[in-house]
Amino acid sequence: MRKNFAEIGRSNEFKLEALTSQNPHSSFNCAVTEYNDYLLNDALRSQNDHIALTWLLTERSSGKAAAYMSLIMDAIKLSFTEKELHKLDYPFKTIPAMKIAKLAVDSGFSEKYKGIGTFMLDSAERPAWACNATYCAARFLTVDADIEHDEGVLAFYRKNGFVQNAELFNKKRKTISMRKDIWV
Ligand SMILES: CC(C)(COP(=O)(O)OP(=O)(O)OC[C@H]1O[C@@H](n2cnc3c(N)ncnc32)[C@H](O)[C@@H]1OP(=O)(O)O)[C@@H](O)C(=O)NCCC(=O)NCCS
Repeated sequence: MRKNFAEIGRSNEFKLEALTSQNPHSSFNCAVTEYNDYLLNDALRSQNDHIALTWLLTERSSGKAAAYMSLIMDAIKLSFTEKELHKLDYPFKTIPAMKIAKLAVDSGFSEKYKGIGTFMLDSAERPAWACNATYCAARFLTVDADIEHDEGVLAFYRKNGFVQNAELFNKKRKTISMRKDIWV
């Protein structure tokens, strides 16, 4: 039976830290090859080029990577109705956000624990809050939900409080632009 990660995650069994050349992650294997390749080949380069900052969730006992996410700055355009929904009475459409550019959970850890993906989304809110408190504003957490590989990710993000963005609808439908208001 799968354990609930929400209980384990609060203990000391896992650590979440920024990717470095020292973090072991070569064994990482999720359902989507593209995300495995990104972590292995591109994540560190993107980090060094200030394109994306990757956070790695590592099991302390094995040193294995259980999940990762890459965070970037973002801005989204909201319709009049969407702004009304969030009580954003401003004359401009573009609202600042922080984006989850990549998110993946290792399949082996997924079989063992439920809730790792949710834990990563919750964890993404912390840097957004910290940034807001000290440096610059971000109202939303955003994501381009990748439905090309698995339509189920929409349900995953909805369950975690994300809603679909009206104006950023991708006609090719490989991704669905979504947002979560981190201040409600
Ligand atoms: C999508 C992904 C991050 C979800 O991680 P996870 O650890 O399995 O998710 P959680 O256990 O936190 O799931 C939370 C809820 O979402 C649901 N859910 C998760 N993935 C789902 C999917 N693919 N389809 C339908 N529902 C899903 C779970 O059943 C759970 O629902 P419940 O609370 O009612 O039990 C993970 O499956 C993954 O890495 N997939 C491959 C890479 C990928 O597609 N990343 C997303 C790119 S946008």
